[in-house]
Amino acid sequence: MKLIYNNSKKFNFISSGKSSIKVIFDYLKEKKNINPKFDEAFVPKFMGNWVYSQLNQVICTSPVLTKNTKIIYLYHQFGIPQKIDEILNHIDRKKFIIIEDSAHCLGGKYKEYNLGTIGDYALFSFSKFFNFSMLGGLYSKESSFIKFSKVKINNSKTFIYFLTNFFHFINFFCKKNSIYEELAMSLAYSLYNFSFKPKQNLIKLLKKKIQKEINLRIDNLKFVRNELRPYDLLNYDLSNDLYAPWAIPIIFNSNKQTNEINGKLRDFNIEMKVMNFDINRNLLNTNYKKSLLIDTSVKKLVLEKQINTIKKYLKK
Ligand SMILES: Cc1ncc(COP(=O)(O)O)c(C=O)c1O
Repeated sequence: MKLIYNNSKKFNFISSGKSSIKVIFDYLKEKKNINPKFDEAFVPKFMGNWVYSQLNQVICTSPVLTKNTKIIYLYHQFGIPQKIDEILNHIDRKKFIIIEDSAHCLGGKYKEYNLGTIGDYALFSFSKFFNFSMLGGLYSKESSFIKFSKVKINNSKTFIYFLTNFFHFINFFCKKNSIYEELAMSLAYSLYNFSFKPKQNLIKLLKKKIQKEINLRIDNLKFVRNELRPYDLLNYDLSNDLYAPWAIPIIFNSNKQTNEINGKLRDFNIEMKVMNFDINRNLLNTNYKKSLLIDTSVKKLVLEKQINTIKKYLKK
């Protein structure tokens, strides 16, 4: 698989995905005449609340295309590729700036498209995949953007980086849903409007680990596909495309079935997250279904246990 992280002409490391959003919009305002009080960004539903918070600080957002839409926020939900060909067929490409949110992808392909290189600008969030400090990335073929973001990142203040990490650290010890958690997270998130230069040793660590992580997630994708193909549960993607997703959504016939299966998984301590997933994989024409999410970073043993529990339930 082609790794884009080593190409410093097109790629910059940055402290986080949220800081990437700020840098991209700083650039669009300064160089592309984007007016944050007039122009709109079309954004899909069901992303994390803090992603909307970050976006709403820099642009008006809308869940539908309007005459003011200038930006399409192309999010590969859970790292499952959007059907880019369908989306591009539907719009006049020249009219829109595409920001590709690859926060849930570690790369891979949809047909001939390399994920993370499709939009005018793409953002990544490596902290989602690795258990270490904040780290994100920015990709663009536009060299002036890469230069612009490099200056922004290099001019950043390291102490804000430490402060943000500090608030996240405090949050770790706070009681869930307490005022202290709320406060620590609000303070941390308010700092994402700054971009910080990530530590070199963090980047080195990422480069050392990334290929293994990609292989693991692709292997798990192949395994889940093979096991569940006869049951028609991954009907949103029975292709041979290989990509390294953050999670694989499984859609059952009914919400009742979804809840019952998750109950069984809970009995074995292998419960999965329940989330909405757009089975059309097309943010312009969505069809959200309740799904159980398989975490693609789990060990084979856990994955086998999860899949076998599901299969046993479906056979009965
Ligand atoms: C879809 C999406 N985009 C962007 C981000 C931001 O990434 P980070 O946590 O690195 O700021 C997140 C993380 O919550 C996300 O889920």
